[in-house]
Amino acid sequence: MEMNSIHNAKEDENDNLIPRYNVLKFNFSDEEKLILEELRENLIDLAISEKMSSFNEELILKDIIRFLENRLQNRFDYDYKENLARNMLKELIGYGELSALIEDDNLEEIMVIGINKPVFVYHRKYGMMETDLFFEDEGKITNIIDSIARETNRRIDQQSPILDARLSNGSRVNATIPPLSANGPTITIRKFKKDPLTIVDLIRYNTLNTEMASFLWLCVDGLGVKPANIIVSGGTSSGKTTLLNALSIFINPKERIITIEDTLELQIPHNHIIRMEARTVNIENQGEITIEDLVKNALRQRPDRIIVGEVRGNEAITLFTALNTGHSGFGTLHANNSRETITRLTNAPMNVPKIMISSIDFIIMEKRIYISDGISYRRITEIAEVTGMEEGTIQLSKLFQWDSERDEFKNLTIVSKTLEEMANLKGVHISKLNEEWKKRQVVLNYLVKNNISSQKDISKILETYYLNPDYVLNKIGVGLD
Ligand SMILES: Nc1ncnc2c1ncn2[C@@H]1O[C@H](COP(=O)(O)OP(=O)(O)O)[C@@H](O)[C@H]1O
Ligand SMILES: [Mg+2]
Repeated sequence: MEMNSIHNAKEDENDNLIPRYNVLKFNFSDEEKLILEELRENLIDLAISEKMSSFNEELILKDIIRFLENRLQNRFDYDYKENLARNMLKELIGYGELSALIEDDNLEEIMVIGINKPVFVYHRKYGMMETDLFFEDEGKITNIIDSIARETNRRIDQQSPILDARLSNGSRVNATIPPLSANGPTITIRKFKKDPLTIVDLIRYNTLNTEMASFLWLCVDGLGVKPANIIVSGGTSSGKTTLLNALSIFINPKERIITIEDTLELQIPHNHIIRMEARTVNIENQGEITIEDLVKNALRQRPDRIIVGEVRGNEAITLFTALNTGHSGFGTLHANNSRETITRLTNAPMNVPKIMISSIDFIIMEKRIYISDGISYRRITEIAEVTGMEEGTIQLSKLFQWDSERDEFKNLTIVSKTLEEMANLKGVHISKLNEEWKKRQVVLNYLVKNNISSQKDISKILETYYLNPDYVLNKIGVGLD
């Protein structure tokens, strides 16, 4: 169904502690509200008698228009009725009054905290905001939760009062119902950004600099001899998945990639990719497929690169077995520093034997830093190289570090073991690799300066670079003169 933008969200300039977000709602007249309630009853009857998935929105829309023509007779013209019908449909199915918020790509999160309380949103630019949207009755929130549960084939009721699901647009939803949540049902939607942030965006936000990004490019690609294994680590919402996704653009297009996630979040532009999603138990408590099952299965699918969205349980050992037997891989992990990353990997529930840890080449630490007014930014605080094991302790060497006072990155790489190994395998002197590093930095600088930031455009230039680096460097040189 085409979603027309009657709901237009704008931020006003009040100096409230929490900025306001106004949801411009379609105003139904009292008569129209009554009709809407009648339609709701009819629709519920239909939902009970048929499976929601067999609903055809266009057919329902036609039904609603017919219903309106019957009720309103010839008091309004057809266009008015059609527009009214579309807005009623929006209210009735899907996400109801939350639709306008769900469609706004500037929002990171949408939070319904109960009845008679404002819905809050987290805006990419303005941080936490209070909307003018209230739910006065529990039923309206429950309706939205129920339709999400139906859409995702989950259940939410007194036996299982928590719902965790993914919407068809990729957003992640958590919902709870009373008495679990004391002030009424809650909904928390973590929105999925339609256009993922790319490495160029991250450089422009100063999450990392081009020197680090070009180093990572060299290591991720591995010049065809040693693609690096990387763990991106950090706290909740520090940008781990986003960074992992952005780095994946550097994977050589010749590789076969398998991604494994709890919830599909990664949007990697490569063609040769298999995306796998784990599954929780269904309504009959059956059919669970874990991340570990999927990692095991991936090993039978001849992957070049295995990417595990979030490493946290039994799957860690399987993944590290793969890394120790010549596959390469990426993953994110929840930890506050590089040491803790290793501690978490080597202890319950992951229990990866220490000896296997040296298959990681880099641990990248990312941090979300909060400014006083609820706005935040993200920085890579450290890139550490795993250099081996001495007397039972895994050795880490810091290659890059963020200086929080100056908001600058320091390059501490006197020597990178990974680069040395790569040079050895290639049979070239390390200086050659340093040259290559500089060249790639020139390419990234060019992309940043010229704001070439979409996945598509970056991929195109990288592919051309892989085929003919001098051609790209010459072009850029001409462009810069
Ligand atoms: N470097 C960044 N700068 C600005 N916003 C970011 C950055 N990285 C991620 N985000 C935004 O932060 C939110 C959480 O990011 P995500 O990568 O999912 O975090 P995590 O995987 O650590 O929980 C997303 O909405 C994403 O668009
Ligand atoms: Mg994540």
